[in-house]
Amino acid sequence: MENINIVEGDKKSRYESLLPQIFALIEYENDTIANLSNITAALKEGLGFFWVGFYIVKPDDSPKGKSLVLGPFQGPVACTRIPFGRGVCGTCWQRGETVIVPDVELFPGHIACSSLSRSEIVVPVFSDNEVVALLDIDSLETGTFDETDRKYLEILTSKISIHGL
Ligand code: SME
Repeated sequence: MENINIVEGDKKSRYESLLPQIFALIEYENDTIANLSNITAALKEGLGFFWVGFYIVKPDDSPKGKSLVLGPFQGPVACTRIPFGRGVCGTCWQRGETVIVPDVELFPGHIACSSLSRSEIVVPVFSDNEVVALLDIDSLETGTFDETDRKYLEILTSKISIHGL
């Protein structure tokens, strides 16, 4: 296995270099945990984010009958379970769309897994038009994420299949 090739340059160039490498990593592998794990490692190593991880929608005994449960991630330990509609992640699940938070202190109900996180983007993963998982990325600085991140991360999540968990 080759290392991720990290290019210098602006954000767009870095995503355009990194995404094909990620697609090559997951293309011929069918195992969800293996692919999600490598995606988090590649994003953390390739783009230098503070925390990168997946939350997966799983059945439980909450009022909604399912919650977000922590999946493969890279970075400090994080909250294990997030209810529907709670925090940035639960809001992304409820809205069924990407949520960009330039300053987590200004997002009502933000769940601070790490007090060091300053901005965040959460991108849904869909199957049959339902949210089945989320890609959550945290930054140590405010204002890290913008429409470029949304564009490339949505292309990435559109290629992810969640099954067999
Ligand atoms: N901040 C998220 C919780 C997950 S951590 O950032 C890893 C939220 O408000 O949902």
